[in-house]
Amino acid sequence: MGKPVYLDYNGTTPNDPEVIEAMRPFLENEFGNPSSSHWYGIKPKKAVENARKQVASLLSCSPDEIVFTSGGTESNNYAIKGIAWACRSKGNHIITSRIEHPAVQEVCLFLEGLGFEITFLPVDEYGLVSLCDLENAIRPETVLITIMHANNEVGTVQPIEEISNLARKHGIVMHTDAAQSVGKISADVNNLGVDLLSIAGHKIYAPKGTGALFVRNSIKPEKFMHGAGQENGRRAGTENVPGIVGLGKACEIAGRDPADNMTHMKRMRDLLYSGLKNELEAITLNGHMEKRLPNTISLSFQGLEANRILEEIGLEVAVSAGAACHSDKVEISHVLKAMNIPLNRAKGTLRFSTGKMTTEAEINTAVKVTSEAVKKMIKSKG
Ligand SMILES: Cc1ncc(COP(=O)(O)O)c(C=O)c1O
Repeated sequence: MGKPVYLDYNGTTPNDPEVIEAMRPFLENEFGNPSSSHWYGIKPKKAVENARKQVASLLSCSPDEIVFTSGGTESNNYAIKGIAWACRSKGNHIITSRIEHPAVQEVCLFLEGLGFEITFLPVDEYGLVSLCDLENAIRPETVLITIMHANNEVGTVQPIEEISNLARKHGIVMHTDAAQSVGKISADVNNLGVDLLSIAGHKIYAPKGTGALFVRNSIKPEKFMHGAGQENGRRAGTENVPGIVGLGKACEIAGRDPADNMTHMKRMRDLLYSGLKNELEAITLNGHMEKRLPNTISLSFQGLEANRILEEIGLEVAVSAGAACHSDKVEISHVLKAMNIPLNRAKGTLRFSTGKMTTEAEINTAVKVTSEAVKKMIKSKG
């Protein structure tokens, strides 16, 4: 048997072969430190600055508004702690949502422990934040709104433009975690109106441990990494040159044919959904029907346990679970909980996410394997 069909592109993506080729010289011969003033530093420095332009071009910002980081988690930490710290004389209130990735949620909880006040906005059954709730939550001491662009589990896309408008109207800094949206939908920082935006390389076919934070020139978050003066004094530590080059190339590729990519991922996703829907009656789609990523479907298999389905299909299809069932308790993801998905539905939730390498043959296999396993499990239940 070959490898399982990979339908977990929201988990991570393979490296694009072009990305690997772009990185190769910096893993082989071009080992110099970009901060060195001698010959060996020249090419690595140029490569880092070229990558900065490639990332900036995808996000429609200026290259000096890009800071390279070690990934989505660091970018979120830098943005949130950096603004909390820089603005602490103005106020100590932060607004976020209940469906953020732990890389935002845990940062907010940490700040809460330090005395900051955090509002975790609820979401509706589709995973959408209400603008009315947001406006009601704003206080004179609110310094930051951090709401994700697209949710990693259900794919719901938030109205970031409208949220940013509200933030701007009240003089509040606006950050969005775009780790899941970049490369799948447009993440133009000017259209979105955000001040800070996080990206993660390994979601867009670049290596793990790479990422960037867009910081609008007018915004000055407190430093997150202290040390030497790399990244214009904004992120200390010798640069991960091969990783940065890979991230830059991945952004260039993502910007090359965004419409084709989106159409392909969406076609694969919809083929999967219609295939499963034809075979199985008791499945429900979680998240918003239109306002969602083109590659993501969160499906609940009524009455079944996600872990058990994964055990059945795991050798042939790789997807991820939205709930973990143990002998004595069921742990539903905080996202499904916040969306008030009933327990009996939530506990049988799987996330399928397609990517640019997904083929129709893979989708057919996934539909066949999953529907056969689910039918078998329903039958054995009685
Ligand atoms: C929405 C979101 N934010 C942040 C992260 C963390 O990014 P990284 O793994 O690069 O630290 C992820 C990764 O799954 C994510 O999906």
